[in-house]
Amino acid sequence: MRIASIVGARPNFIKLAPVSREIRKDAEELIIHTGQHYDYEMDKIFFQELGIPEPDYHLGIGSGSHGHQTGEMLKGIEDVLMKEKPDMALVFGDTNTTLAGALAATKLHMPVAHIEAGLRSFDRNMPEEINRVLVDHCSDLQFCPTETAVGNLKKEGMIKGVHLTGDVMADILKDCIRIAEKSSGILDDLDLKPKEYYLATVHRAENTDDPGRLKRITDALCGMGDVLFPCHPRTEKLLRDGALWDRLNKEVRVIKPVGYLDMLLLEKSARKILTDSGGVQKEAYMLKVPCITMRDETEWVETVEDGWNVLVGADKEKIVSAARSFDPHSEQREMFGKGDASQRIVEVILDFEGKDQE
Ligand code: UD1
Ligand code: UDP
Repeated sequence: MRIASIVGARPNFIKLAPVSREIRKDAEELIIHTGQHYDYEMDKIFFQELGIPEPDYHLGIGSGSHGHQTGEMLKGIEDVLMKEKPDMALVFGDTNTTLAGALAATKLHMPVAHIEAGLRSFDRNMPEEINRVLVDHCSDLQFCPTETAVGNLKKEGMIKGVHLTGDVMADILKDCIRIAEKSSGILDDLDLKPKEYYLATVHRAENTDDPGRLKRITDALCGMGDVLFPCHPRTEKLLRDGALWDRLNKEVRVIKPVGYLDMLLLEKSARKILTDSGGVQKEAYMLKVPCITMRDETEWVETVEDGWNVLVGADKEKIVSAARSFDPHSEQREMFGKGDASQRIVEVILDFEGKDQE
C-alpha cells in the first residue's frame, strides 16, 4: 500500500513523526509538504530532530490569505496525487494544508484518512473549525483522539469509518520527553531554574488579529514577571504592527520559536503554562503542568473538566489571577491514550486497503 502524507505546518510535522515511522514498517509513504510554514524554526528543525524523512514533494506555497493559500495548495497537491496515484491520502489536524489535502484527494475519488478527527470548538469564526468540519465530512477514515471527538462526529451523523485510537501527540511525547531531559540544554542556555518561570505561547488568529485582545494579553504578560515567550512569527508581525513589540520585549523574555525537544523540556519545567495553542494544552496536561488557556473555549474539554486547564479568554485580570492562584492537584486520567495511537491508526489503514479491494 502507498500512502501520501500531506503536511505543511508545525503541528502537522509533530503529528506526522510517529505515524510516518509506523507506516514505513509495513507500507510505502510519500510525503507532500505544502510549504505553509517555512522558517527554519517552524519547519526544518522538526524534520531534523524527529527524524522525519525528507519530503518527496515540496510545493513551496508559503503565506497568503486563506483562499489564496488554500487554492494554491489544492492545485499543487492535485498535480502530485494525479501523478503518483497513492492508495490513500493522510491529513493531520486542522490547518489550511489539512483542508487542501483532503479536498484534493476526495475530488480525485481517493480515500482520505484524517488524524485528529472530531475536534470541535463550536466557533465557526475560527479558521481551524471550518477546516475540521469540512475535512471530517470528506474523510473515509476519521481517527479520533478522545471519546468527546467520537461523540461530536456521531452528532453530525458520522459513525462508519470513525475510530477511537488515542492521540498521536501522546505517542511522540512519550518517545521524546526522556530524550529531551537527557539532551536539551535549553534551561542552562537561558539560565532558567525549574518551576521558577511561566511559559507563554500565543498565535491564534482570534487573539493576534484582534488588537484589543492582543493588547490585553500583552498587558497581562508584562505585569507577571518571569515569563518566557517563544514567539510565533505571526504574533511577532502583529505585535510589531500594533506597536506592542518593544514594550513586550522589555518586560517579557521573548525568544524565537524553539524545537520540539527544547519545547517539551521548557513545558515540563515551567511553573505554569499560558497558551492559546491546541497542542500545548494537551502537552501541559500530559506533563502535569497547570495550563491557563487564553481562549473563550477549547476543543480539549477533558483537560478543563479534569481541573488542569482553565479558560481565561483575553481578560487581563483573569489571566493574571490564574497565573497567581490556579493550582490544580486532581488525579489525572490517560485521556489521550496509551501512546500506541500511531500503531492503531496504521493497522486500520492497512485493513481498509484489504476491505476496499474486496
Ligand atoms: C497555522 C494554522 C493554525 C495552527 C498554526 C500552528 C491555518 C488556518 N492555521 O496558523 O491552525 O495552529 O499554523 O503554528 O492553517 N509566518 C512566517 N514564517 C513561517 C510561517 C508563518 O513568518 O514559517 C507568518 C507569516 O506572516 C504568515 C503568518 O505567520 O502570514 C501566518 O501563517 P499561516 O501559516 O497562514 O497561519 P498560522 O498563524 O501559522
Ligand atoms: N511547539 C514547539 N516550539 C515552539 C512552540 C510550540 O515545538 O516554540 C510545539 C508544541 O510543543 C506542540 C506544537 O508545537 O507540540 C503545537 O503547535 P502550535 O502551537 O503551533 O499549533 P496548534 O497545536 O495550536 O495547532
